[in-house]
This record gives sequence, structure tokens and C-alpha cells, in this order.
Amino acid sequence: MLENLFIANWKMNKTVKESVEFLEIFIPLVHNIKDREIGIAPTFVCIESVGKILKNTNIKLCAQNAFYETKGAYTGEISPVMLKDLNVEYVIIGHSERRKYFHETDEIINLKLKACMGEKLKVIFCIGETIQERESNKTFDVLKSQIEKGLKDIKTPDTLVLAYEPVWAIGTGIVASEAQIEEAHLFIKEKLKKMYYEKADNIRILYGGSVSPENINSIMKIKNVNGVLVGGASLDPEKFSKIVKYETQG
Ligand code: PGA
Repeated sequence: MLENLFIANWKMNKTVKESVEFLEIFIPLVHNIKDREIGIAPTFVCIESVGKILKNTNIKLCAQNAFYETKGAYTGEISPVMLKDLNVEYVIIGHSERRKYFHETDEIINLKLKACMGEKLKVIFCIGETIQERESNKTFDVLKSQIEKGLKDIKTPDTLVLAYEPVWAIGTGIVASEAQIEEAHLFIKEKLKKMYYEKADNIRILYGGSVSPENINSIMKIKNVNGVLVGGASLDPEKFSKIVKYETQG
């Protein structure tokens, strides 16, 4: 059985003080949860402070991005080695906001995945179609191409997690329907099986896009959904704890 994974992607939100305040409320709310994995991805400037607080808790330290070189003249970038040094466990790679605002191509994402996996960081590789692509029936072509290009030459998927995030569902309050999530996750699973055979059974597939305490129960019931990647609702400790504790909600 794969452990379900719940990742908070804080994006460009929260100062160090605000991150610490969140954790003071959040940690006691989830401290006795042992049957699922929880992770928080703060901004780079908060990673060290958040990491110190998360040490010896059941919450994993995550990062939102990493560059593909180890070190050198790359002003403004952070390398996988540096993240490993701060005990980061998971790194989100290829988020649609990185693709859109920072022009990350499938080729760049592939380099980043290889660099992070080379450092034994676990990666959360994000894929998903835009609304225009969905409306012109290109969803599966896009997912296929993002998977093939992003995972090019990656032979051992041991530290790989996929995240299906339809771009039109991110931050919009519009959640993909259960049928849309189910067919996309099945497509991804089958594609991974073709590439990695039985090793694909260990690759978790998360859903992301307007996840909230209100819809988490139905999302987690969908076949081949092994957790969620949460943006907006993860900024509030009560809301994110309700998502993490989805089964036990009244
Ligand atoms: P959202 O973001 O939950 O605010 O839609 C999800 C994501 O971008 O990972």
C-alpha cells in the first residue's frame, strides 16, 4: 500500500514570522497522524527556519523549485545540493506557474528532475493541461508529451511522485470533476507502467487544483489518487489540517 501524501505548496506567501506562526498552530493539529505523509514547501528564504521547527515532527520539509546545476555562476538560483544540505526531502518540479511565468520548458524540467533525483531528493513532478488544450481535446496528448519529455533518460523512478494539476483548476476554485481526475490519473498510471513496468506501482500520483476541506473526501476516493498538492487552502493551518485529516472529518 502506498502512503497517501499531502503537500502544502505555499508559493510566494508567508514571511519567516508568518511561517512560524502557522507551524505553532498546525503541528499540534496533526502530530499524531502516522498513516499518511505530510509535507510543507515554504519559500526558499523560510526553508531553514521551517526546517528547524519540523525536525523531529511527522512533517516533511519540501522545496518549490531547484536549479539543475550543483554550483556556479547562476545568479539567484538554488541547487539540489543546497536543499539536501538543509534536509529537504521533496522538491516540486515543473509547476505550471514555473512553466508559465519563468518559461520552464519540458527540457529544463527534465534537467531539474535528473539533478534532484541524482541527489536522492524526492521529486513531485507536475503536469497538466490548460483550458485551451482541454477544450481542443488535447489533454492526453499534452500529458503524454510532458511525461515523455520530462522523464527522458530517467531509468529509475525510485524517488518520483507525479502531480496531475489541470492548469484551469489551480487557484480558480474550479475543481476537476471526479470523472476528469479519474481518467487523467488512469492515463498517467498506464503511461508510467509502459515506461517503468512494475516499478510504476510505487509512483504516487497526486491531484492538485482548488483542493479544499469541502472536496477532499471525494477526491481521495477516486481511483489512483494517492494524495494532493494544495496551494491556497494550505496557507491556513486549520484548513490544511482538515485536508490532511480528511477521513476523520465530521
Ligand atoms: P490551489 O493550487 O490549491 O491554490 O489551486 C494548487 C497548486 O498550484 O499546487
